[in-house]
Amino acid sequence: MSDVQENLPQAVAILRGGGLVAFPTETVYGLGADAANPAAMARLYAVKGRPRAHPVIVHLGRIDWLRDWARDVPEFAHKLALAFWPGPLTLVLKRAEGVADALTGGQDTVGVRVPAHPLALALLAAFGGGIAAPSANRFGRVSPTTAAHVREDLGGDVDLVLDGGPCAVGIESTIVDASGAAPVILRPGQVSASDIERVAGVAPAMPSGSAPRSPGTLAAHYAPRRPLRLVRAADWEAVLRRQSGKRLGTMSFRSAPPSLRCADWIRAAAEPERYARELYANLRRLDASGCELILVEAPPGDAPWTGVNDRLARAASGDMPSAP
Ligand code: TXA
Ligand code: MG
Repeated sequence: MSDVQENLPQAVAILRGGGLVAFPTETVYGLGADAANPAAMARLYAVKGRPRAHPVIVHLGRIDWLRDWARDVPEFAHKLALAFWPGPLTLVLKRAEGVADALTGGQDTVGVRVPAHPLALALLAAFGGGIAAPSANRFGRVSPTTAAHVREDLGGDVDLVLDGGPCAVGIESTIVDASGAAPVILRPGQVSASDIERVAGVAPAMPSGSAPRSPGTLAAHYAPRRPLRLVRAADWEAVLRRQSGKRLGTMSFRSAPPSLRCADWIRAAAEPERYARELYANLRRLDASGCELILVEAPPGDAPWTGVNDRLARAASGDMPSAP
């Protein structure tokens, strides 16, 4: 960690000068910019390739920074922040006066979280202000979970990449809209609906038409470049047989049939937290395997797999055929 700590003053100087610093969080790597600097925000959106109307998450060093960013924070949101920060939960709250449209996509709300990675927290403490950070990939692509992924995606467009090793959670934070009377989950993640219900004392709703825009919920998001097909476990063998003429990249809970020739076969973790941690690196590996088609065996449908199933459905553009 020592070389990284030596990089901290440089990272802070870059942020203060309006530059971009990629840094690790417990979920995925973020592409950070000074949230209070409009020119830095403009550069962030340009490098990310993201439409200006799509809001970004402001990362905070401590829960008490919240008062600079949000107003009218409901009691249940305070409870969620106290229970899960630092951690993989983003709260969408009414924005405080002076919070720029550049962060919120012009909406009256702002997304905030305190990340649980020692390097992210050290950076935030040294910088002393909010750091706006989308995932450090180009818009719509698979999020990076290592420093090498960030460099592959963004190359020279980022001024510094802080390397904190592979991310522990591996999929993006749970986003909860806490700007209304009751919590609404806008994006599932490791903090589950039952975790939220336990702490908030009310079951969270799923999004409705009136919820704020959350483009991470676009159907075709988090997608590899190769076409990806999500296959129900019951259909797996039939689909594999039918597609075996193609150069396949596959991720399954089983081992490869000895007769099958394929570009790559990944035996996925059977345990949901580990599956999530390895998911984006696995999708990148399949994408790079030279395959024509990625086949992924769908995980179980129960609660611990909600975040993973959400990302897989988006990687497959929401398309989950039921028959081979
Ligand atoms: O785990 C994470 O959340 C990672 C790490 C870096 O913190 N960040 C991340 O950022 O996934 P990004 O920009 O890739 O996704 C943030 C999502 C987007 O879908 C955005 O629309 C939504 O959060 N969001 C941010 N502010 C919002 C707001 N005010 N209202 C509704 N959605 C918001
Ligand atoms: Mg993203």
